[in-house]
Amino acid sequence: MNTLKWSDALLLDFEPMDSAHREFVELLGLAEAASDAALPLAWAAVVDHTAEHFGREDEWMRSTRFATAEHHMLQHRVVLNVLREGLALARKGELAAVREMACELGAWFPKHAQSQDAALALHLRREPQRTTPRRASGAKHAPTRA
Ligand SMILES: [Fe+2]
Ligand SMILES: [Fe+2]
Repeated sequence: MNTLKWSDALLLDFEPMDSAHREFVELLGLAEAASDAALPLAWAAVVDHTAEHFGREDEWMRSTRFATAEHHMLQHRVVLNVLREGLALARKGELAAVREMACELGAWFPKHAQSQDAALALHLRREPQRTTPRRASGAKHAPTRA
């Protein structure tokens, strides 16, 4: 059962973050619903997405000198390390631990989105010249440097 479902309560009114967050919710849902055989690959997709998603937010914080960047980036680092440990467990067949981790991640994410990410989204909305729209080619969203 999916512990996290997309809801408008997760919207931050900053499209690049909202689309990354939708993708995160979708990939976590796929991992939670995955069969044992499919779980390692589904978890790898969560880890890959999260590395990119957190990395993009970290870059925005660095490039715009976001005031509480250190704490937010630390949280990203800790969570990503845990997810990578989960990938190692998944590959060893310790799937119950990975499923428990998925559940905890589903509980953690709304709190992070509605506090740390919401503050960052507000900051970035005030710095529109620092960000560029996602390109149709699928190129990654990145802030433009002044
Ligand atoms: Fe985020
Ligand atoms: Fe974040």
